[in-house]
Amino acid sequence: MLPLSLKVVIIGGGSSYTPEIIEGVIKRYESFPITEIALVDIEDGKEKLEIIGNLAKRMIKKARLPINISWTLNRKEALQNADFVATQIRVGGLKAREKDERIPLSHGIIGQETNGAGGVFKAFRTIPVLMEISNDIKEICPEAWMINFTNPAGIVTEALLKYSKHKKIIGVCNIPLNMHNSIAELLNVSPFQVQIEFVGMNHFVFGKKVYINGIDKTELIIDKLANNNFDYSPANIVDLGWSKTFIDSTGLLPNPYHQYYFQTAEVLKNDLEDYKNHVVRAEVVKKLESSLFSIYKNPNLQEKPQELEERGGAFYSDVACSLMDSIYNNKKDIQTVNTLNNGAISDLSDDDVIEVNCVITKNGPKPISVGEIPYQVKGKVLQMKEFEKLVIKAAITGNRNDAYLALVMNPLVADEKQSKKILDEMIQSHEDYLPQFKEGDALHE
Ligand code: G6P
Ligand code: MN
Repeated sequence: MLPLSLKVVIIGGGSSYTPEIIEGVIKRYESFPITEIALVDIEDGKEKLEIIGNLAKRMIKKARLPINISWTLNRKEALQNADFVATQIRVGGLKAREKDERIPLSHGIIGQETNGAGGVFKAFRTIPVLMEISNDIKEICPEAWMINFTNPAGIVTEALLKYSKHKKIIGVCNIPLNMHNSIAELLNVSPFQVQIEFVGMNHFVFGKKVYINGIDKTELIIDKLANNNFDYSPANIVDLGWSKTFIDSTGLLPNPYHQYYFQTAEVLKNDLEDYKNHVVRAEVVKKLESSLFSIYKNPNLQEKPQELEERGGAFYSDVACSLMDSIYNNKKDIQTVNTLNNGAISDLSDDDVIEVNCVITKNGPKPISVGEIPYQVKGKVLQMKEFEKLVIKAAITGNRNDAYLALVMNPLVADEKQSKKILDEMIQSHEDYLPQFKEGDALHE
């Protein structure tokens, strides 16, 4: 029997990624029969929201499904009766991302919008806004699951689970799925036959074991990777390849973001080139976005265009839609999400958020135990987790010394004098979006 109402709210509905989630919903209609989708955005995103809303309408019409699509700037109204709320916002838009990437590079430091100096400031801008949103959810639709894509997704999810009133929050990313699908393609098997055991955090997760139909194929995959036989980088990361020695010694599958940590000099060199040539990722994405929106405007377009695959987050909707589908149907299948550790990794605290395989039930994700962090990367993982906590602390307190500490303890920054320069410049440059730092204590000189 169809439900009377099954409503999904997408906050940041005017994002160029939204057609993907609409496609995902249409694909799963039989098992996940949504009745209503509400797209929400802010005044600055009004025009984009309108374009996306109309395209979504055409996509649903083509699919001949009885899904009601609406769009609004009134978040609280849209949240009424929501069952799922997807959050995909970018506080300050691509302009802020460009600053996140360019300002650190102007001081010779990696900007990267999720794990570099830029990611620290993206977290500072994002956490307070998402906190408001999740508190609204608690008040208006307390039974709803919040599915967060907003980066840095792991840090943001941990901040919310620790400090917001709402607790039904799950963080997601396309990286584990990309790794999963690439292995399936490489071995010419269906993705359903592949299982990867992950250990770590968002954008810092390692593949520990790979199973095909339950049989351990880790060695084979490690061998392929060591010999550069495959690549699972998203569009935003240039694949530099891994040396055989690195892969053989660690015996783990790195994720593409690990290049930042283990090939830092080369990544920085490339990023500085991009900086000089005005092609940092934000600048590339700006162009991509404007061409995507001119495609979306075409009244004859009724489907997600191929061009969207040039975004690094392509296929994220498969993660989100499968997750909602499994919660709704209490499927108890295994998916990789960001959730509270609760003992899954024995060396981390219960309230640390990790990216981990979970059994997805109607009561949310139940992490599958991973045991200890592999000794090869234990130091690195623990260091990252402590750094993440510093970011969360500073985002909440708005204290500049806390912010400085988070920045200097980022392994990709790790320069005490440059950190101070970057901090001052970033706080000033992002001032409209960092209200918590306004009255903040002055940094001790
Ligand atoms: C990857 C990450 C996402 C991130 C995206 C950036 O896929 O997993 O979390 O948002 O890349 O892509 P973009 O096209 O915005 O550079
Ligand atoms: Mn991600």
